[in-house]
Amino acid sequence: MTIRILVDFDLCTGHGRCYNTSPDLLTEDEEGFVSTRWEPTTAADDRLGEAERAAAACPERAIRVEQD
Ligand code: F3S
Repeated sequence: MTIRILVDFDLCTGHGRCYNTSPDLLTEDEEGFVSTRWEPTTAADDRLGEAERAAAACPERAIRVEQD
């Protein structure tokens, strides 16, 4: 099983809390936005808690986590 982390770039304003909360899953681009602009980030489902913390940390609610 895997998880997918999806970012709504219409909502992301570059707060940076997601990649600071879960730096092993998410990183920043050169402008400070989360660097998953074109594709969802995938990970093993044992990282679900970490992904959900990243999503919860975003004040814009720009991150969604899905499980396959
Ligand atoms: Fe963007 Fe939210 Fe992260 S605004 S940089 S997705 S904390």
